[in-house]
Amino acid sequence: MSFPEGFQGKLPDVGTTIFTVMSRRAAERGAVNIGQGFPDYSIDPGLAACVTDAVATGFNQYAPMEGSLGLRAAIAANIASRGGRADPETEITVTCGGAESIYSAIQAMVGPGGEAIVFDPAYDAYDPAIRLAGGRCIHIPLEAPHFRYDWDRVKAALNERTRLILINNPHNPACTVATAADLDQLAELTRDRPIAVLADEVYEHVQFDGRVHQSVINHEELRSRSFAVYSFGKTLHITGWRVGYCVAPPLLTRELRRVHQFNAFSTPAPLQQAITLYLQRHPDAWRELAPFFGAKRELLRQRLAGSGLELPPAEGTYFQLADYSSLDAGIAGLNDVEFSERLINEAGVAVIPLSPFYREPPAGMRIVRLCLAKRDETLVEAASRISAYTRAQRQNP
Ligand SMILES: Cc1ncc(COP(=O)(O)O)c(C=O)c1O
Repeated sequence: MSFPEGFQGKLPDVGTTIFTVMSRRAAERGAVNIGQGFPDYSIDPGLAACVTDAVATGFNQYAPMEGSLGLRAAIAANIASRGGRADPETEITVTCGGAESIYSAIQAMVGPGGEAIVFDPAYDAYDPAIRLAGGRCIHIPLEAPHFRYDWDRVKAALNERTRLILINNPHNPACTVATAADLDQLAELTRDRPIAVLADEVYEHVQFDGRVHQSVINHEELRSRSFAVYSFGKTLHITGWRVGYCVAPPLLTRELRRVHQFNAFSTPAPLQQAITLYLQRHPDAWRELAPFFGAKRELLRQRLAGSGLELPPAEGTYFQLADYSSLDAGIAGLNDVEFSERLINEAGVAVIPLSPFYREPPAGMRIVRLCLAKRDETLVEAASRISAYTRAQRQNP
């Protein structure tokens, strides 16, 4: 069989993600990579030992499709310890990273002609998954400059085809968190309509300055119509293990599992067992995350003070935004992709531009995203290179 000239698959406009592109470029140029969101430090040796234990004790065959009951029970216990509730049998499904929960929930809920609403800047996995399902992705921008929800605009976008609203809380890349009032608005807008909420809460434990996570699963009304997505990649610093989970009421869990069983089917058995053992030994591991990343946020902010970059307050996630519009006209005139290229080539630092997170990037946006999940030495080195670069530009514009 040969394909006709000009043949295109189902996502002809999609290229390699900006994260992969920037990490590749960083490796080629020997740049310090504070772009893509993955830790460059070692994991807890105790967690690594749990994998060895799991393999040695025979957890090497297919895990149950919905996730091992041990892991689901440990997840339920964690939720209960924070005042929530989820039934491990009927409301929790272990998936290949949070990303697979998102994909499977979208496939379960959106079909040809259906619409799903996302908020720009949006994590890049949402839009293609909606389109692959045959649906239409409606992009609503978060309000500049503080990336807040405009619920009137959401209300105006709702119609009989709307099937899903995706929120990401805490928000990557805006580094903002949703308020209780935001969730109430969402509940009001979806009340008595066949619209589900997909809440991407993978950064639930990374919120700063005493903020308390507002989860859809603790919201009396939203709980009954929401998928909430989590990631052990974020919670245990193991992005490469690809273990996440979805919490949803029984009806939505049933629909999610219908897709999941023919998508990933199940998640690696030894890794699920390793995480189960680790959570049994360290049920409070998640409590360390906010102070851990909070200290890194302070370090990076301090080291970039005087660089000329403006650093809006980061309320949550392990990212920090940097606005370069106050730098010299030569630099401030560059768009964010050009500025990121300059930083790789001339400062030796890889960051992520914000415009690829938009369907229509706002004109004149001069913001890049920096990742905090790096060793202190990495953050210090990156900040020192950026500061040296902006200083040199000021002296020799
Ligand atoms: C907002 C957001 N959602 C989902 C994911 C995917 O999580 P996982 O790596 O567990 O698939 C990420 C990972 O970067 C993310 O930033």
